[in-house]
Amino acid sequence: MSYDKTLREDLAARLTAGGHLQSTRWRQALLDVPRHEFLQGGFFRRVDATGPTGWEPVMPDEPAWLPACYTDESLVTQIAGTIVPSDIRGQILRQPTSSSTLPGLVVRMLEDLQVEDGSRVLEIGTGTGYSTALLCHRLGEENVTSIEVDEDVSTRARRALATVGHAPNLVVGDGLDGYSEGGLYDRIVATCGVLDIPPAWLAQTRPGGRILATVCGWMYSSELARLTVDGDGAARGRLLGGQISFMLARPHLPPPLGMLPDVNEGEERRAVIGADALDDWTTRFVAQLAAPRTQRIQIPRDDDTRHVFLDVDAGSWAALHRDGEHWTVRQGGPDRLWNRIEDHLTHWRQAGAPGLEQFEIIATPDKQTVTWPRKHP
Ligand SMILES: C[S@@+](CC[C@H](N)C(=O)[O-])C[C@H]1O[C@@H](n2cnc3c(N)ncnc32)[C@H](O)[C@@H]1O
Repeated sequence: MSYDKTLREDLAARLTAGGHLQSTRWRQALLDVPRHEFLQGGFFRRVDATGPTGWEPVMPDEPAWLPACYTDESLVTQIAGTIVPSDIRGQILRQPTSSSTLPGLVVRMLEDLQVEDGSRVLEIGTGTGYSTALLCHRLGEENVTSIEVDEDVSTRARRALATVGHAPNLVVGDGLDGYSEGGLYDRIVATCGVLDIPPAWLAQTRPGGRILATVCGWMYSSELARLTVDGDGAARGRLLGGQISFMLARPHLPPPLGMLPDVNEGEERRAVIGADALDDWTTRFVAQLAAPRTQRIQIPRDDDTRHVFLDVDAGSWAALHRDGEHWTVRQGGPDRLWNRIEDHLTHWRQAGAPGLEQFEIIATPDKQTVTWPRKHP
């Protein structure tokens, strides 16, 4: 057996043992689709250092490259919207903008998508094309449409897909608009995160069809959601759990922070809940539901840290700091951000702080609602 096939066998065994890979059909797809063909342009490896994250290229002529293609890790393939591994000597300190998602998450999502033979699937975020290839293997390329916002990324994916013998419908555009020319889909799956389920996805999924996407916020807690579309233009479902995170769809990225508020202004009070509560993933997710377009930054100050929460567009802010045993909050702008977050967290705690996999999500063209089960006396 060739070396890369052995690596794929090993990966499939690990993903099966980890519970990500469950069905024989997806196992066969994982064994037959060579991930390394989608990483021929190399990838960026994180450089361990304190301070901002650095990235260095790993190219196919390096011994580390092939085994890395079969680890259960996300491999970054583009940085700062244009930079690919062959552009760089040394390190780069900018943000990743495209990657090959870790195979464990790819197959978990494919299993969660609950496809059947002949299901027509729209994928948002083609990336390297690896997950697109797995879909083609399982469903046939005629049933797969994949949208990528970045033309160069899409071109590279098309090339890699052709190498492994697939030619699905690849579209360059904003996946948040879906692709209405493709008619109604049985499934929509997003491999980039969204703040809310776009109305176009609701309109382009057949009644009874499913949408699988990671719902995010700008405090960077997120969770995978699976919704079933009803016949009235809405969809409802559950969060699936697992602390899933994805790079955000580009139109949903937060605005630059710009000028920070003067945290000596505003109204001050003792906080009921401290900023440290949001170090916990679930608590942060619930806080984010109350303030989805709020960003969080930490500003070191003397021997203290200010935790600043800022809704740039609305101009509202809250700044918290620890005051001995307690937390103090100052708030300014048109809205009292921290009051909103505290109220939401208090209700959730009073309901027994249920886990995210118990949350329900309802999306309509106008609104998204995420709720937790009420506690029964
Ligand atoms: C995590 S990567 C996708 C991984 C991919 N499924 C794979 O297996 O290689 C996310 C991709 O979503 C793309 N993306 C971001 N915003 C998008 C949007 N609005 N529409 C379509 N694609 C988008 C990014 O350019 C990036 O290539």
